[in-house]
Amino acid sequence: MSAEATTLPSHDSCVAVSRGPAVGLECRDIHKTFFARTAFAIQALSGVNLSVKPGDFISIIGSNGAGKSTLLNVIAGTFPVDRGTVLLGGEDITHVPEYRRARDIGRVFQDPRAGTAPSLTIEENLSMALRRGRRRGLSLGVNASRRQIIRAELCLVEMGLEDRAKTQVSKLSGGQRQALSLLMATITKPSLLLLDEHTAALDPKVAATIMGLTDMIVTERGLTTLMVTHNMELALQHGNRLIMMHAGRIILDVGPEEKHELTVPGLVQKFHEVAGKAFVTDRVLLAD
Ligand SMILES: Nc1ncnc2c1ncn2[C@@H]1O[C@H](COP(=O)(O)OP(=O)(O)O)[C@@H](O)[C@H]1O
Ligand SMILES: [Mg+2]
Repeated sequence: MSAEATTLPSHDSCVAVSRGPAVGLECRDIHKTFFARTAFAIQALSGVNLSVKPGDFISIIGSNGAGKSTLLNVIAGTFPVDRGTVLLGGEDITHVPEYRRARDIGRVFQDPRAGTAPSLTIEENLSMALRRGRRRGLSLGVNASRRQIIRAELCLVEMGLEDRAKTQVSKLSGGQRQALSLLMATITKPSLLLLDEHTAALDPKVAATIMGLTDMIVTERGLTTLMVTHNMELALQHGNRLIMMHAGRIILDVGPEEKHELTVPGLVQKFHEVAGKAFVTDRVLLAD
């Protein structure tokens, strides 16, 4: 990355909602069951408590089905909770609908196709993202000032996209599309950024580029960020805090200093220690 590219453009006049400093997130005793009161009930979250400080960048790891995506979905308002409270910047958003939360919460998913509109051009997609939460309806219009902001954003990515602003998104590679998704999710400096395995579908080299871009954007914009990954290496390399989920609970929470010292084998060892304890606790609870 060049020195120029690490300085993000200022576009306060275009942001959807005026943004202050980063905010914190608080999840209190979150429970979520799918197919509740049926024989197929799945308890996806069983009392999650999480306190995220403004500007924290937290990696979330855990095996398949641990509840990682459900936690992000509950925070974003995709699913209602059975019980518990979600506070963003001190405001109780537990019952705020998903579309309203989307003004403050940027998301990037595993599938590069999920965050972008394929039939629209790159600049139309970014223009739409700039309008998020401003007025009803979506405006695709790209005036001169927006075009300048969009160009500056595209320069950041260093994939030559700034010269392809009028290219249809369907023509982009998965990596380019994921870079665009990341820009769309962060162009209005959201209060919270949720990344759900956003590099898992990319080949390793492209994934590393997207992670580099993620680090730069999160740092420069000071975004409070939760990043789900199944890759322990990635979880250790990025962010200032690491949490591990298992069976719908947070079983490990590692702060900056300890995280710095941790290795993948160390993390695996910790998983066995604490997951073992979690099983024991479950058995104790069941025995009650
Ligand atoms: N929309 C849904 N409908 C029904 N069950 C779901 C849904 N989403 C997740 N689950 C179930 O909840 C559990 C946790 O899933 P998920 O949060 O996706 O795990 P992870 O992201 O950690 O792999 C799993 O058993 C999964 O099958
Ligand atoms: Mg998941």
